[in-house]
Amino acid sequence: MKRLSLFGAVAVVCLIVAVSSSISSTATALAQDATEKAKPRKKAIERSRETVKMLDNIFKQTIVLVTDKYVHDDDDFAAGSAAVLLFKNISESSDNKIRLIDATGDPYDTDNVAKDDFEKKGIKKLKAGAKGHEEVITQDGKPFLRSLTPVPVVMQKCVMCHAHYADAKDGEPIGAISYTVPIK
Ligand code: HEC
Repeated sequence: MKRLSLFGAVAVVCLIVAVSSSISSTATALAQDATEKAKPRKKAIERSRETVKMLDNIFKQTIVLVTDKYVHDDDDFAAGSAAVLLFKNISESSDNKIRLIDATGDPYDTDNVAKDDFEKKGIKKLKAGAKGHEEVITQDGKPFLRSLTPVPVVMQKCVMCHAHYADAKDGEPIGAISYTVPIK
């Protein structure tokens, strides 16, 4: 009888150990699941990257087209002014935040400069030859892709208003477009 109860006690202890270890492994799995949910999936980041690429191409093609066809002297409405206004309106009316900023240290408008660490670090990287700079951030619990793309002196006409662009080396960015787009 005594022996039997000893076996019984051992069995109970084994059972407790088994149950508690299975509870703790379920808890670990749940915790892993939660971090995976908080971290955006690679495919979702890639979709946002493609959105930035598409927007960037449209904006840059438009700036060149407007400068080529509509801007003839330095008091015409510059594509840069149009872009600043367009980006402000897009940023106010959607989840996409976009800015046109200077990379030369001599902006037309003092508001068009790198403002936070991401933009400041990005401008340095672009000037050193990087093709882009990006970061995944969380704002109000939602993931966003931040991306900075270079703006080179694409046409001689740019120098008409920004005289110092003439000093830029071949391919050196004189500005950048800063994007913050949702990751969905
Ligand atoms: C007709 C004059 C004019 C021409 C031509 C022009 N810009 Fe601008 N650009 C401006 C003005 C004015 C601003 C400031 C817009 C604002 O803040 O509203 C500006 C702003 C910018 C900015 C933001 C930084 C800053 O200096 O404020 C960049 C970058 C820029 N232009 C690049 C270019 C490029 C590249 C070209 C050639 C494709 C170009 N611009 C042609 C007048 C011009």
